[in-house]
Amino acid sequence: MNIEAGFLRDRFRIPAGPDGNPSLYFCGNSLGLQPIAAAEAVEAELERWARLGVAGHFDGLLAWMPYHRLLTDHLAELVGAEKHEVVAMNSLTVNLHLMMISFYRPHGERRRILIERGAFPSDRHAVASQIALHGLDTEHDLVELAPRRDGLIHEEDLEDYLNDHGERVALVLWPGVQYATGQVFDLERIAGACRKAGAVLGLDLAHAVGNIPLKLHELGADFAVWCSYKYLNAGPGAVAGCFVHQRHERHQGPRLAGWWGHDEASRFRMGPDFEASRGAEGWQLSNPPILAMAPLRASLDLFHEAGMEQLRRLSLELTGHLAGELNRRVGDHLDILTPLEPQRRGCQLSLRIHGGRRAGRQLFERLEGHGVVADWREPDIIRIAPTPLYNTAEETERFVRLVEKLL
Ligand SMILES: Cc1ncc(COP(=O)(O)O)c(C=O)c1O
Repeated sequence: MNIEAGFLRDRFRIPAGPDGNPSLYFCGNSLGLQPIAAAEAVEAELERWARLGVAGHFDGLLAWMPYHRLLTDHLAELVGAEKHEVVAMNSLTVNLHLMMISFYRPHGERRRILIERGAFPSDRHAVASQIALHGLDTEHDLVELAPRRDGLIHEEDLEDYLNDHGERVALVLWPGVQYATGQVFDLERIAGACRKAGAVLGLDLAHAVGNIPLKLHELGADFAVWCSYKYLNAGPGAVAGCFVHQRHERHQGPRLAGWWGHDEASRFRMGPDFEASRGAEGWQLSNPPILAMAPLRASLDLFHEAGMEQLRRLSLELTGHLAGELNRRVGDHLDILTPLEPQRRGCQLSLRIHGGRRAGRQLFERLEGHGVVADWREPDIIRIAPTPLYNTAEETERFVRLVEKLL
């Protein structure tokens, strides 16, 4: 079977551009498009609420009480985890804090958190505030590993740092895909280095989930968090995801607890003592927002149908073709910051236009005027992310032609 990228395009709603035709939507790395089934899934829950009232918590296959489990199978499949290792809950930064409360346990000399320089600001705020919560000082205990002159962070540098200072590192918080450059990291290598150094490894998979295949269980990361509004197409501010490795499934250390993390068998006895559910579900706090979970359920169904391996194969072709054409036809006018080796990139390309910020901004705005939806990251980066679920090779060709014309 010869499946082309965009093969599930008719299952999405494509926003119109200025001329009323479908836009060239390359912004799935920021906010993915709406699956048609999302509205149906929300509508179904509104209808159940109207018809059943409180009985909806326990009625039928879509009962709200165990609703989060309807997402578990596909979520586990998507990130390569055991079912009890994943849960859909909260938002990314909230989950990151919940994980750090449990797994950032500075003691003695082992106090540092290692992140990448240029990390997404929310991650930096989160780790800085966790360090402060322990009465420690970011000056000493927050380490930001710098990129090299090529703008990329080399796994080797992380290994070197951990070889030299590993006994001082309590937690490495690392992205699967760097948000600004689109660089995909060799997570196996990073996990190996963390294991050797005795440091906890947490992953921010905001730009990795639904973009590249993941094998979190096998990888052995301690925890991972991600959001669901980018490649996962679950809508603005969608319910996020969290992975906790099986070896922590009976975690006895500190955690912020809430009644929804209490073991389901005894939760409704309403006793005063907290008994955690097994695995990731034990970190849930509140009963989940069903109307926000419904689009995620619809979206995960599409990923299951498409298969992440197949999407990755198509993505490599789609983004590879785009990179090749940009380099060949307009390479004198721009640099692609994203590494182009297949294993070091996902859907996204980050472009820097020659001539400085003004030239880049000008091209970006002209492209917008011609129906291209990409995004701009300060100070001077245009990010463009063809996503194989709904973008086609023909669209990437139109994009390159527009760049040629508008430069
Ligand atoms: C890499 C990364 N980390 C963290 C966040 C913050 O996510 P949230 O607002 O869902 O907590 C984002 C949002 O885009 C992100 O790209």
